[in-house]
Amino acid sequence: MSLLSLKDVQKSYKVGEEVVCVLRQVNLEVYQGEKVAVLGPSGSGKTTLLNLISALDRPDAGKVFYLGKDVHALTEDEQAEYRLHEVGFIFQFYHLLPELTVLENVLLPGIIAKKDLAALKERAFELLAHLSLEGKAHYKVYPLSGGERQKVAIARALLLKPKLVLADEPTGNLDPHSAETVINLLFSLCEREGSTLILVTHNHELAKRCEKRYLLREGHLVEC
Ligand SMILES: Nc1ncnc2c1ncn2[C@@H]1O[C@H](COP(=O)(O)OP(=O)(O)O)[C@@H](O)[C@H]1O
Ligand SMILES: [Mg+2]
Repeated sequence: MSLLSLKDVQKSYKVGEEVVCVLRQVNLEVYQGEKVAVLGPSGSGKTTLLNLISALDRPDAGKVFYLGKDVHALTEDEQAEYRLHEVGFIFQFYHLLPELTVLENVLLPGIIAKKDLAALKERAFELLAHLSLEGKAHYKVYPLSGGERQKVAIARALLLKPKLVLADEPTGNLDPHSAETVINLLFSLCEREGSTLILVTHNHELAKRCEKRYLLREGHLVEC
């Protein structure tokens, strides 16, 4: 069985009187452990697609199955559990809490999930060590570089060992050297943990390193 399956997913937005159809008929199968790239011009619906996969938003038609379950048929509480335990998010602009330390940011999902703090800290330090950030665990986030912030966001996303990692242009705000470092670490951590990665990117070189590549254009997702 696929980990994630999208069947004829459609999504439009109403902007004033106008209806903008973003996803017309999107189909996708993602298997456990795969790295999948989604390319597409700005405004083509990449973020919309991730929002539907993570049940942050609902499709107008079609279905999203995670391990065979229709995620849009879950209750709100079940969807919150799904997002917390099954999905890890990484965003272009990190979305960290700048007043908290590196460690506190990484621990957040575990604290929300009410996990044992000692075990969470052990897990957080294991991830930070892989990311060469253990020496900065007690630093506040705001003086860190973009690459370091994105590494913190990666550790936070992976803390609870999600099966599915969604990365929305994670290197879009980084210089080429930092981007390379961050993506190498993200790939190696996902491989090590057996996480499945959906990587939204403008960067064709990065996309080439994924097993499958799709282009989102005019509301359709085509394998390329
Ligand atoms: N909440 C919303 N309301 C209205 N229009 C939206 C909303 N979210 C996205 N859009 C529009 O949908 C299109 C796709 O947006 P998005 O998924 O963010 O594209 P991408 O991530 O590929 O740049 C854009 O034209 C955008 O303006
Ligand atoms: Mg986007």
